Amino acid sequence: MKNLAAVVLAAGKGTRMKSEKPKVLHEIAGKPMLFYPVNLLKKSGAGKIVLVVGFGSEAVVKAFSDPAVSFVVQEEQLGTGHAVMCALKELRGFPGDVLVLSGDVPLIREETVKSLLELHRKGGKAAISLVTTDVEDPTGYGRIVRDAEGAVTRIVEEKDCSPLQKKIQEVNTGVYLFSAEFLHSNIKKLGKENAQGEYYLPDLIHLAVEGGLRVDSVSIADATEVMGVNNRVELAKAAEFMRARINETLMVSGVTIIDPRSTYIDYGVAAGADTVIYPGCRLSGTTVIGSGCVIEEGVVITSSKIGDGSTIKSYSVIEKSEVGKENDIGPFARLRPATILADKVKIGNFVEVKKSTLGKGSKANHLTYLGDSVIGEGVNIGAGTITCNYDGTNKSVTRIEDGAFIGSDSQLVAPVTIGKDAYVGSGTTVTRDVPAGSLVITRAPEKVIEGWAGRKLKGKAKEKK
Ligand code: UD1
Ligand code: CA
Repeated sequence: MKNLAAVVLAAGKGTRMKSEKPKVLHEIAGKPMLFYPVNLLKKSGAGKIVLVVGFGSEAVVKAFSDPAVSFVVQEEQLGTGHAVMCALKELRGFPGDVLVLSGDVPLIREETVKSLLELHRKGGKAAISLVTTDVEDPTGYGRIVRDAEGAVTRIVEEKDCSPLQKKIQEVNTGVYLFSAEFLHSNIKKLGKENAQGEYYLPDLIHLAVEGGLRVDSVSIADATEVMGVNNRVELAKAAEFMRARINETLMVSGVTIIDPRSTYIDYGVAAGADTVIYPGCRLSGTTVIGSGCVIEEGVVITSSKIGDGSTIKSYSVIEKSEVGKENDIGPFARLRPATILADKVKIGNFVEVKKSTLGKGSKANHLTYLGDSVIGEGVNIGAGTITCNYDGTNKSVTRIEDGAFIGSDSQLVAPVTIGKDAYVGSGTTVTRDVPAGSLVITRAPEKVIEGWAGRKLKGKAKEKK
């Protein structure tokens, strides 16, 4: 939309967060709070998005560098009106409408912005259109004051309210649409004669009304949408609402979530139909789960792909890895970054895999470490196998070719290759390459000394005397 620009106010420190980090970088469902309004604006077709940054601006600029976004630094936080004044530098000569959102109001929905745009453009004459809502407890919000005809006349901030105004339950959501022309010619008229000594953006409403201009408003039913995040209690509440939305979207698309309240799925994670997710799971980053999977209790998956029909059993941890179709992982398995598993692979309990590939149908069922290894198809890795990939200075690769069998409690000292269909006897320490089809074994000859235990006991009895 060429005639729509947007400003997001994100310069405040967020004093009530009691944090070194700018408020808008605190995360909600895996994304910094500010991601949500910016993302919504991109989807709403804003041609230009100006972020007003201040406290911790370097960090905010770094987190949001994007060709669609430009930044304005508000050196001193003199109020929301002043913040918009700073943003207007970037919008000189812009003829259309300017949508203003707050960086600390992350739950606003696309439909809300859409209905605001529709309202503003249908009438075509309003200087300002704004979004309001009725809340149970209006504490902290600006109150909407209306005249006898029901028209908005002004917004009064909590700290400037008369006792009567304090009772008003209709509040300012901080979502506005201004005609750029109105903004350019009126923003400098804002004063700071108020309880906080700040330039209040909402004072523009009174200015417009006094100047005989039209102010339109749209009221939305779901007050949770406009919840501002000012402290960590509200951060947790907003995150809870956001997660509920994410879970609902997945459930509607065919995913079973046994207990949504205890299932933590970040924004952007995908899962296919007929996948079942048990309580206590955390799925984050760029994770994509296929269809027909089972993700059991307490599983943690970060930025990984899980193929169709795979089961991830309880308390497994998977990070930056790719799991093929119909895998059987865990319980208590750990897949570290750059692990790539083909189809029908089994990784059992207390197995750690790092930067390794396993071919189709290969298995490592118990108590094993596989690091920097390239493992073919149909390989069986016995309990307690260790790839010794690190000599204190360098990391080296272990290769295990198709069909090989690694006996339990073996150490494969890398760099080393176990050839196709070769056998490694239990308890072997392999230091040299093993040719295809051979057996390698380093077991010491076994001795059985009969009667040994009895003689030992007698010796002990003598010592005591
Ligand atoms: C603001 C509104 C209030 C509304 C509420 C909705 C004002 C004066 N009040 O109150 O009517 O009900 O939002 O959530 O606007 N900011 C800057 N620069 C500044 C000051 C603030 O960029 O100088 C940014 C903040 O970082 C924040 C946003 O503007 O993202 C809102 O500021 P905040 O101080 O949280 O305003 P509220 O008191 O919540
Ligand atoms: Ca706020």
